Amino acid sequence: MDIVRFGIIGMGGMGTGHANNMPKISEVKLTAVCDTDPVALKTAMDTFDVPGFDNATDLINSGLVDAVLIATPHYFHAPIAVEAMKAGLHVISEKPMTVQLSEADKMIQAARETGKVFGVMFQQRCLPEVQAAYKIIKEGRLGEIRRTMLIDAHFRSQAYYDSATWRATWRGEGGGVLMNQGPHGMDLFVWLGGLPSRVIAQRATRQHNIEVEDEALAIVNYPNGATGFVYETVNEAPTSTRIELLGEYGKLVLEYGSVRFWEVPAGVRAFSDSTDQMWGRPEWREVEVPLEPHETGHAAIVRNVARAILQGESLISPGPEAINQLELADAILLSGFTGKPVDIPVDRAAFDKWLARMKRRYPGKKSAGPAKRITDPQFKK
Ligand SMILES: NC(=O)c1ccc[n+]([C@@H]2O[C@H](COP(=O)([O-])OP(=O)(O)OC[C@H]3O[C@@H](n4cnc5c(N)ncnc54)[C@H](O)[C@@H]3O)[C@@H](O)[C@H]2O)c1
Repeated sequence: MDIVRFGIIGMGGMGTGHANNMPKISEVKLTAVCDTDPVALKTAMDTFDVPGFDNATDLINSGLVDAVLIATPHYFHAPIAVEAMKAGLHVISEKPMTVQLSEADKMIQAARETGKVFGVMFQQRCLPEVQAAYKIIKEGRLGEIRRTMLIDAHFRSQAYYDSATWRATWRGEGGGVLMNQGPHGMDLFVWLGGLPSRVIAQRATRQHNIEVEDEALAIVNYPNGATGFVYETVNEAPTSTRIELLGEYGKLVLEYGSVRFWEVPAGVRAFSDSTDQMWGRPEWREVEVPLEPHETGHAAIVRNVARAILQGESLISPGPEAINQLELADAILLSGFTGKPVDIPVDRAAFDKWLARMKRRYPGKKSAGPAKRITDPQFKK
């Protein structure tokens, strides 16, 4: 195989964005599309001039594809991914991997059993500033993490939530900012800073007429005693994502577009324990962080998965690692609603039971007009 034949399942805003990207990626070729909505399907078939299917099973068994990119609403990611891998196909799932960790476990198990490549669309990992932060941490220059923070502030209008019946409902989306806008920031937070072991959270629906949360915040604890704070919202403008990681040997501050790093060569705790100076404090200095060019955006993940299939390249965002974002999101959701601390790994049965209750309690929504499947302009290139 010298090119990976891709089928895209879910030709809405994001699926169309992926289809637009495919001709720019020399390792892949779009050979089929799928959407359960007849209008979206016909539009995609006409636009991209490829065969189309009105259900994922037929695309998976068509013989036309080696891999699928799943860009449906979240709940469908897991069953389609499992079916595709069992049928011998490689998979990229859009973020979040899915809603329930019990379903994410099945995706990882399917990848393990079939040996198929399974990546998740966490394309922000490719940003040069994120790659540079990751390198600093992997080289041990930050040292043991002592304190973390994620402020992940997005903006979404009521019109956005009204654009499709699945959005912002328990039955259709399984959460709000924690399931849709927050996953990228949360993924970087746990990828760089490690996975907390306990969460105590609050959530609110503050600014939108929706069933699910548009704001969530949490205090997180780590196995080594470190603490952190997470804030997710879709109620702010200007928008920003900021991650702070405090380690024994330094402090790292990441914002999209920039990363800053201060070294504390003597070590914060080591200095505190050893100095005999009443007002002594360790020296710190900001050091330059060189940024290396790196392909960014969704295309970078698609290319990486294709190269993993063709040449065994390491995955940038492998499923077994991407699940950590969902551990954090599900823990915050559960804690935010129960008011109790939640341990990570999250109790799968407890989360599923709670979610089933939310689905029973909330009716979902009727269409507020024709569905709008428009690619987020920041991803149009
Ligand atoms: N990685 C990113 O930056 C990014 C950005 C936007 C959206 N997404 C993710 O992409 C997914 C889709 O979001 P969107 O904004 O494109 O939504 P959308 O509503 O615009 O598109 C979803 C499409 O899936 C189709 N669909 C629904 N169920 C299906 C099924 N069972 N089989 C086949 N098609 C089905 C719908 O008809 C619709 O056309 C979500 O999981 C979202 O989180 C990721």
